Amino acid sequence: MLEEISKTRSEIEEAAGNISSVDDLQAFRITYLARKGKIAGLFARLREVPPEQKREIGQELNALRLFAEKLYKERGKQLETSRKGKKAFLDFTLPGRDLPIGHSHIVSQTIEDIQAIFIRMGFSVAAGPELESDYYNFETLNFPPDHPARDMQDTFFIEDRVLLRTHTSPVQIRLMETRKPPIRAIMPGRCYRNEVISARSHVQFHQIEGLCVDHRVTFTDLKSTLVAFAREFYGDSIAYRFRPSYFPFTEPSAEMDISCFLCHGEGCRVCKYTGWLEILGCGMVDPNVFKAVHYDPEEVTGFAFGMGIERTAMLRHNIPDIRLIFENDARMLRQLG
Ligand code: PHE
Repeated sequence: MLEEISKTRSEIEEAAGNISSVDDLQAFRITYLARKGKIAGLFARLREVPPEQKREIGQELNALRLFAEKLYKERGKQLETSRKGKKAFLDFTLPGRDLPIGHSHIVSQTIEDIQAIFIRMGFSVAAGPELESDYYNFETLNFPPDHPARDMQDTFFIEDRVLLRTHTSPVQIRLMETRKPPIRAIMPGRCYRNEVISARSHVQFHQIEGLCVDHRVTFTDLKSTLVAFAREFYGDSIAYRFRPSYFPFTEPSAEMDISCFLCHGEGCRVCKYTGWLEILGCGMVDPNVFKAVHYDPEEVTGFAFGMGIERTAMLRHNIPDIRLIFENDARMLRQLG
């Protein structure tokens, strides 16, 4: 038995010397130190040992176990430090990993691009609240009391006569109330309408409003400003047309179309096979609007326009569904960086 103990001791010593990985360390523990390991096996045989030798052999066995445990711990520590040591040999000349960097949202980008063009034409930028009163959103904009937009079906009312603005036109009023002509400003912002959410419409969207008021501003000024914008934004080669339309706060009113830049007027799914894309609503400021802000309609004239941002972005980037713009799916946003 004593001989066997000393044999096991050398075996253990050799095995410990051969440990070079965490797996080896684990195997060492299982072979010698585990409940069914070799040392436990030897302890079990203590029963067969004659009583007068029990004490001596027992001591030897205990020493053997301590020896194995000590080696086990030592090798474990060595493994760990050598692993840490290896880290110090990192190749610092390797190029670093790129950190993903965010970018502004497609809606912000579109607003900024549109804004930049108007700023160059001498427009300033203004803003107003999203929570509006009936007074600014409808009344001063010459909406009759029974206009359908004033219905709960179309507008989110917060309380009686307080609502989420349905367009950016109320900012025109706020601006004219606080400033004297000449005014040349654009007003981007978020709007809300009680719509059924679909590929084409959402309950939230953005508009950019434009207003130009001065002595003798004409429809020709409106046209030339908007044509200059469209050529710069959509490209020189577009064709355009103005169609008569109706808004309570402009008279006359029009909608501006440009030739479809996807099919070049041939007709495709995006332009619904008409060859034309509607890009904005516009018109000459209605005299009643001037009266509401105490401007003299005999003295000043002006034009205004409003453009949907999401619609513009969808056309420009060929985005098939407005919901994609608001769902914040990084896979989608990344493509529009
Ligand atoms: N406010 C209108 C809309 O939401 C757009 C518009 C703005 C039209 C200014 C004419 C002048 O549809």
